[in-house]
Amino acid sequence: MDTVTTLPAPRPQIEQESIEKLMGLAIFGEKVAAKIYLLAGELRPEYTSLLTQFARMEANHGAWFLEASRANGIEPDRAFADRELGYLISQVDAHFAARDFDALIIVQGFIVESLAIATYESFLPIADRYPGTARAFGQALDEERYHVDWVVRYLRLRYFDAVDDFRTLAERVNVHGIDCIGGTMMNISEYLDNVGMSGAYCAGAMMDGYTRLLESVGFEQKDATKHVVGMFMPLIRKYRRGEKTK
Ligand SMILES: [Fe+2]
Ligand SMILES: [Fe+2]
Repeated sequence: MDTVTTLPAPRPQIEQESIEKLMGLAIFGEKVAAKIYLLAGELRPEYTSLLTQFARMEANHGAWFLEASRANGIEPDRAFADRELGYLISQVDAHFAARDFDALIIVQGFIVESLAIATYESFLPIADRYPGTARAFGQALDEERYHVDWVVRYLRLRYFDAVDDFRTLAERVNVHGIDCIGGTMMNISEYLDNVGMSGAYCAGAMMDGYTRLLESVGFEQKDATKHVVGMFMPLIRKYRRGEKTK
């Protein structure tokens, strides 16, 4: 076969820029995930070894995504990722400074993992368009689910007879955490659409995943739904109003 015909067709610019933003967010988001598990591990000697291993897994995900990006001529957009993740990093630093292990675990285990799971799951159906990415994202997705399983087990035991305390904690952490992650989800919605994913599906998957996590730690289904809708609605209004004034 003529080598020229085997070259992939160049992607439309809008798709190229969008996939570069999304890959940037995935790669640098994985670095933040690794950082959160490391910081949490520092606060609790009994979990240091396990959480260091989780951090290593997150770092591997970032490395796999970077390798798959390079193989596909995708230059991850670091500036975009830094802008989106800056808010999250300052929340994490504040929780660590307060030695608030449970807050770090909720930010990472519920909020960051929910965003990763929702977007990686949505990416898999189109992954064939970027050779090598299906394997990387598929394996990362399995491992994110494993991390979430551990987080749920930890929180269930910790708040076994104190669901109200868990509710107070979740509300406190979510006020800030969801604002940055939910905002990011809205900011990337257009880029997801541009690469053939669905921004609406991802946002729905994230809300659904998050609701299920709250239920798994002891919220009644109705309560969990109310809680999640209550968190996202102010954001939706804010971003919708923002769109209208443009
Ligand atoms: Fe990860
Ligand atoms: Fe993870």
